Amino acid sequence: MLEIKTLSKHFGGVRAVDELDFTVRQGEIFGLIGPNGSGKSTTVNLVTGIFPPTAGEIIFDGRDITTAQPHVTLDAGIARTFQNIRLFNNMTVWENLWVAQNSAEDKKATNLLSRWMGGSRKAKSQVEEYLEFSALADKRDELAGNLAFGEQRRLEVARALAAKPKMVLLDEPAAGMNREEVRALDERLRALKARGITVLLVEHVMELVMEVTDRIAVLNFGQKIAEGTPSEIQNNQAVKDAYLGTSGD
Ligand SMILES: Nc1ncnc2c1ncn2[C@@H]1O[C@H](COP(=O)(O)OP(=O)(O)O)[C@@H](O)[C@H]1O
Ligand SMILES: [Mg+2]
Repeated sequence: MLEIKTLSKHFGGVRAVDELDFTVRQGEIFGLIGPNGSGKSTTVNLVTGIFPPTAGEIIFDGRDITTAQPHVTLDAGIARTFQNIRLFNNMTVWENLWVAQNSAEDKKATNLLSRWMGGSRKAKSQVEEYLEFSALADKRDELAGNLAFGEQRRLEVARALAAKPKMVLLDEPAAGMNREEVRALDERLRALKARGITVLLVEHVMELVMEVTDRIAVLNFGQKIAEGTPSEIQNNQAVKDAYLGTSGD
């Protein structure tokens, strides 16, 4: 589904991503882990087209998206969340989901207002579904900026889904969540998988990664140092060394 081929991104002298190779298969939950600064967010930014790579290729669903801009990668079926939450804080929960929809019928309406007025009933009922899915139905009229942190993260995931992606890239969705919220996130990730959505999960919360992923790639200084099932990764010496060798996050 997603093929990363000898992908590199250099920022000046920093090799943020360094000849990285991995493939995410259709329908799996693929974990991308590694110490702080190892190139995880940069990889997500490259795949979603925030900036072009220095070298290498990105193939999604058989299509070369190496230099595709964010709106093109979104159209191709890739949605994401950000490590630092980005929501429309002055819009309600419902509105945040409504504007994020990427439905073909609503795209025919040329501007937001006409979409709003004439928006299809189907699209509106789908917003309800995302609200339910994210357990945010009772917060629908709250401003996003007033939500608790964990709720904002949930809304970000729901907003990514509203684009009807084939694949979602989640950059540390469990950051700042309590145990209960992490368990609920685990269930939602499984529900995504059950819907056939492929997931790339960047995450520091190891219980979640080890529980929910099918396979994991481990980065260190922009390079892949290991790839395998959660149990293979837990027993990998290079991975243990990489985590011990950092200030511990
Ligand atoms: N836009 C940028 N400009 C310059 N350096 C960057 C930029 N984004 C990331 N970096 C650097 O690239 C490296 C990898 O960062 P990042 O991908 O954010 O790591 P991670 O998400 O694994 O913590 C770090 O050294 C970081 O400082
Ligand atoms: Mg990051």
